[in-house]
Amino acid sequence: MSSPQSLLIHGANIILPNGESMVGDVLTRDRQIVEVAPQISTAAATTEIDAQGLTLLPGVIDPQVHFREPGLEYKEDLFTASCACAKGGVTSFLEMPNTRPLTTTQQALDDKLQRAASKCVVNYGFFIGATPENLPDLLLATPTPGIKVFMGSMHGQLLMDQEEALDAIFARGDRLIAVHAEDQARINQRRQEFAGIHDPAVHSQIQDNQAALLATQLALKLSRKYQRRLHILHMSTAEEAELLRQDKPSWVTAEVTPQHLVLNTSAYATIGTLAQMNPPLRSPHDNEVLWQALRDGVIDFIATDHAPHTLAEKAQEYPNTPSGMPGVETSLPVMLTAAQEGRCTVSQVVNWMSHAVAVAYGIPNKGAITPGYDADLVLVDLNTYHPVRREELLTKCGWSPFEGWNLTGWPVTTIVGGEIVYDQGKVNTQVRGRALSFM
Ligand code: DOR
Repeated sequence: MSSPQSLLIHGANIILPNGESMVGDVLTRDRQIVEVAPQISTAAATTEIDAQGLTLLPGVIDPQVHFREPGLEYKEDLFTASCACAKGGVTSFLEMPNTRPLTTTQQALDDKLQRAASKCVVNYGFFIGATPENLPDLLLATPTPGIKVFMGSMHGQLLMDQEEALDAIFARGDRLIAVHAEDQARINQRRQEFAGIHDPAVHSQIQDNQAALLATQLALKLSRKYQRRLHILHMSTAEEAELLRQDKPSWVTAEVTPQHLVLNTSAYATIGTLAQMNPPLRSPHDNEVLWQALRDGVIDFIATDHAPHTLAEKAQEYPNTPSGMPGVETSLPVMLTAAQEGRCTVSQVVNWMSHAVAVAYGIPNKGAITPGYDADLVLVDLNTYHPVRREELLTKCGWSPFEGWNLTGWPVTTIVGGEIVYDQGKVNTQVRGRALSFM
């Protein structure tokens, strides 16, 4: 029986939940995957995609992005960012609270959810941000993947750099706490030591490995004290990876960004302040240790920390330049190119960018190509290479730290809830994602 919402993807190399692959067909109906088999009759579907030669993956779930709406829409907004997601194979995202107003109340969370419902072409979820004053909001806000805590590298209300205030948050409730772990006291002190230096490379010395390690140690201490679910955002140093390798409580997870895996401090010489982010890029040694930790399961998954700023902002002189770089359009090709280079396997990329994220955040029915799961899918081309080109980017900021990089694994078709949201360069702006739920 065919139905108006049914889609048949025919002849793809399908990455299966057990990590193996199979050339075959996938049938979706009413937003869900209903069948995965070597061959499914074309009569079963109203729309058919010939996917021969392409690889089918579960859609990417990007668990750390900054999409700037409301308040900073001159950098990015939920529509442009979600189009960039569709192009990058990202079918769901978890967004951070440092918008204007800050997402620190149920009202602000509801406002974001409403905006997203009206304009996001992919699925969405929003963190609630911790301040020293909003504990009641943190306990009750819903739906949210968790509480975002900036232990450092932030100013204003969202900065939580006092152990006592952090302790109060870890002590109450049981929802996930996601920390940006950098020690603000150390950063402040080193800012003074390095004052007057305008070479952006000094950013990695000011916010050094030790600043990250100190904050991660404190977060782990508080998490152990209360056995509180902790997630360490964008882990960037060998020292933190080694710390977790020695002793990682079962209730702790960690993520790494593609840029902390494949870029390092040498990038300042080529792209200057475009390489400036928090936590900063590190050394080639850190790259290698992070890769190994990811392969060994010490680090659980990948997030982009998509943090767009305009080129005009980035053209100022360090330290007046904002930290952050966009990522949702390039993360999957960057990781799949690494897989083609032998750094990991394609099925590991699927785990790190989709399955493990769904598990860690308790997002039901996502992150695997199996009947009953949501039809959030991406077809990628692992046979051809194409460079990252500024003029092809959909992010409003209009640049990428990877411009000129020749990558493979570019999405050809992205599917959200059984609907084609991106196909060969074009976004279907009529598609709407849905609010994610968290168990
Ligand atoms: O580099 C960064 N930029 N790191 C963050 O944690 C925040 C982000 C932003 O919002 O610009």
